[in-house]
Formats: sequence, structure tokens, C-alpha cells
Amino acid sequence: TFLYAADNSLWEKSTLNQILKRGELRVGLESGYKPFEMTAKNGEIIGFDVDLAKVMAKAMGVKLKIVNTAWDGIIPALITDKFDIIMSGMTITQKRNLQVNFADPYIIVGQTLLIHKKDAGKIKSYKDLNNPKYVIASKLGTTGYFAAKKYIPKAKVNAFETEADAFQDFINGKADAFVYDLPLCAYYYSLYKDRVVFLDKPFTFEPLGWAIKKGDPDFLNWLNNFLRQIKGDGTYDRIYKKWFKS
Ligand code: ARG
Repeated sequence: TFLYAADNSLWEKSTLNQILKRGELRVGLESGYKPFEMTAKNGEIIGFDVDLAKVMAKAMGVKLKIVNTAWDGIIPALITDKFDIIMSGMTITQKRNLQVNFADPYIIVGQTLLIHKKDAGKIKSYKDLNNPKYVIASKLGTTGYFAAKKYIPKAKVNAFETEADAFQDFINGKADAFVYDLPLCAYYYSLYKDRVVFLDKPFTFEPLGWAIKKGDPDFLNWLNNFLRQIKGDGTYDRIYKKWFKS
């Protein structure tokens, strides 16, 4: 009848419908942003995002496939359907949001700094680094790199393909500061407390969200309601506590 003649082609095309038909959720991420996604000694990719992805796949009643992808091409890979969703600690930026849609933020972070102990008196905030004599290390294509360029324009920025390489540059003394999302700086600080100072007051505001292809209201609706549910029923807190001690 007329009442039931609604066009369901949107749902036919929805990524969510594809996932259910396939029986598999394909999650794109780039391992290396601790504790969101990292590679364990046995080669398995683990972390906060991975545990959330597991709960998500379970709620959909499908299997989970993790697709490890270089950060550099992660948005193009989503758009060309190499996976269904990016769950990779990605900051919801206005620029990225022109290319992809984001579910509601699942955590808020911001940029922080690690500096060498010898500079503790001289460098008290990112503003003190805004001088051509300083070198900053970060990772290419991340909000850490963008923030360094935008807020510390006079400093030289060394950009690397991975978080680990950027941190190595800093800890080896080739850079005066490492700029990155608070959780990763906190992790490195815990390992190098004797050598580095953590300027842990974020100087940017960064909601992180799961990214999906544009034009998919059904998937977006499911994700936002899933997130609200796990935040309300204790699931999110349990997983959070597992990866973020404090
Ligand atoms: N939040 C930062 C950004 O969106 C860094 C994310 C890096 N994530 C990763 N899995 N390597 O640019």
C-alpha cells in the first residue's frame, strides 16, 4: 500500500546493511597510537579502539576484521571502501568532516608537549617554543603536526611517518619538543620520566570520532545510539579503565 511504498534504496546502500549481509565489520586503523591501537609482541593489534570495535561487531552480530592502514591514506581508503569505518583515534576536524562523516565524539583529547628536562625552566608552554631556534617533532598528517604549524609557526617542524619515529627524533635530542595527543604523550612520559618533562595542559580541543562514508544516515544513527548505550551501561567505562589507568 501507499504507506509502505517508502523508498528504501538508502538502506539498501547503507554500509550497515552491507556489513550485515557480509557478516563482517571491517575496521580501518593505523597501529601505533598507544593506547588506542598498537601491535602486541605476537603481532595482534590491540587497544582501546580495538576493544570498542569488538563490542560493536558483537552488537551487530557479525565478525570483526581489523585493517591496518597507513595514516597517510586512511581517509581515501575509507572512501574507496577498503573498510567500513575508521576507528583510529581520529580527531573530528572541520576539514576532515568535509570528506567523511563522524559519529559523536567518544573521547576528548588535545595537543600536549614533551620537552627535555634541561629546558624545563625555559619552556613553560607551547608559546615559548615559538622561536626559530626550536625544533619540534610530530607525525605527518596528524593534528599534532597541524597544531605545531598553526600555533608554533616560527619553530621548525620535523614530520615523520609514524609516532614512534617522531618520538625517537625527540628523545635522541634532534628535536626540542614532541607534540602529540595527550594520551600518547602520557604514555611516553611514563617510560621516560627521568629524562623528559610533560607539559600536560592541552592547548587544542580535540573530540575523537569514528569516521564513515558520507551519505549514510542509517549507519550514523546506529553508531550514535550504540555509543550512547555503551556509555550509559558501563561497557565504555570498563574498556576505558582497562587502557587508561588513573
Ligand atoms: N588524533 C590525531 C589525529 O587525528 C592522531 C591520530 C593518530 N591515530 C593513529 N591511529 N595513528 O590526527
